[in-house]
Amino acid sequence: MINFPAQALREQFPALRHAGNSVFFDNAAGAQVPQVVLDAVNGHLIGHNVQRGGRYSQSVSVDATIARSRASVAAFINARRPEEIAFGMNATSFIRLISLAVGQTLGKRNEIVVTDLDHEANIATWLVLEKMGAKFVWWKIRPDGCLHTDDLQPLLSARTRLLACTLASNALGSIVDVRGAADLAHAVGAEIFLDSVHYGPHGSIDVQAFDCDYLVCSGYKIFAPHMGFLWGRYELLQALPTFREDFIPDEPPGKIEAGTFIYENVAGMDAAVNYLAQLGRTLRGKAGAPDAQSLHDDARTALNAIRAYERGLSLDLLAMLKDNKAQIYGIDAEARISERVPTVCFNIPGVLPQDVTEAAARADIGIRDGHMYSPRLMQRLGLSKETGAVRVSLVHYNTAAEIQRLAAVLAGLKRR
Ligand SMILES: Cc1ncc(COP(=O)(O)O)c(C=O)c1O
Repeated sequence: MINFPAQALREQFPALRHAGNSVFFDNAAGAQVPQVVLDAVNGHLIGHNVQRGGRYSQSVSVDATIARSRASVAAFINARRPEEIAFGMNATSFIRLISLAVGQTLGKRNEIVVTDLDHEANIATWLVLEKMGAKFVWWKIRPDGCLHTDDLQPLLSARTRLLACTLASNALGSIVDVRGAADLAHAVGAEIFLDSVHYGPHGSIDVQAFDCDYLVCSGYKIFAPHMGFLWGRYELLQALPTFREDFIPDEPPGKIEAGTFIYENVAGMDAAVNYLAQLGRTLRGKAGAPDAQSLHDDARTALNAIRAYERGLSLDLLAMLKDNKAQIYGIDAEARISERVPTVCFNIPGVLPQDVTEAAARADIGIRDGHMYSPRLMQRLGLSKETGAVRVSLVHYNTAAEIQRLAAVLAGLKRR
């Protein structure tokens, strides 16, 4: 394991202390938040829990909080301008919002490429466009559980309107070469919509390096409270027919943020970005709090260190699962470990997935069984969507010692 301050970071997460002996291994469904995020949410609710847009001090503070968070998130993902960031409820509703708008712009370019690796939120939301004339083309995984850009190329043509794909699988943990996919999509004049929800806690997001057109993320997967954000190229957001009621501004981000969203959680999102940036500064030996200029680089340093630490966790987890004769879905070879995040789906032969997770729950370990909202992928893997698989999903506050606690549970399972 590399020298990563996992223990010191754990201490920054009150929920880990509060939960005592519990092990949080279901992070793909939502991560815990550090103290600075709690402070930001509390500070917002105590100091200025009012509506934005007023002239009195508390309301002015709400506007300032939203503007600060928008600027932080923009810097975090290397957006060209803060107005490219929209805040809202979650990733799914943003994907649907964009799909509804894209559906109104289909002409001769009416093909949408979706994948069989994605979360259903980035598949079904596009498939509903069939009634608006969309046709669908499937970019499918190979037996290694990965999407290969060589397979994408023949699927694209002058008819392709958009490719919707994930940065990393919430079930198999495989990482997608999204820059390669973006280049191929752009070469035929199509756009690319990225789902960064699962990748967010594991690696640096850089919309300019990815050269994508839209990207969605959920705050609650990256150490912020329950909320989501959307990024889009400014000109594309400007052109899309999204909300167009008189009382809603006709410019991004207002035209994408209808009504009130959860301001305290937006304050928490800003704090979560700063938590990562502060970690990066500490790792680089830099003094002082994160500033706007260096925020992206600081956060990237943190996430690169997190990725390196998590590679060690992935190796430990996979070795432990192999010791327990688990059937692992997706990448399990050490040589390819950098192509995955520490999210692993598996089954134990002769044991129902729910019996594995119930045994883990009795040992105070939170893991999940089922289809992981990727029922098509489960089918592709030859699994029933009713029972599916067991998923362990780790983040940087997890440890090798916790993996050993799960090892004891798996070793004690009664197999048929
Ligand atoms: C890869 C992926 N995409 C989309 C979603 C949906 O996100 P949200 O709950 O913010 O709508 C999830 C949720 O687990 C996910 O893992």
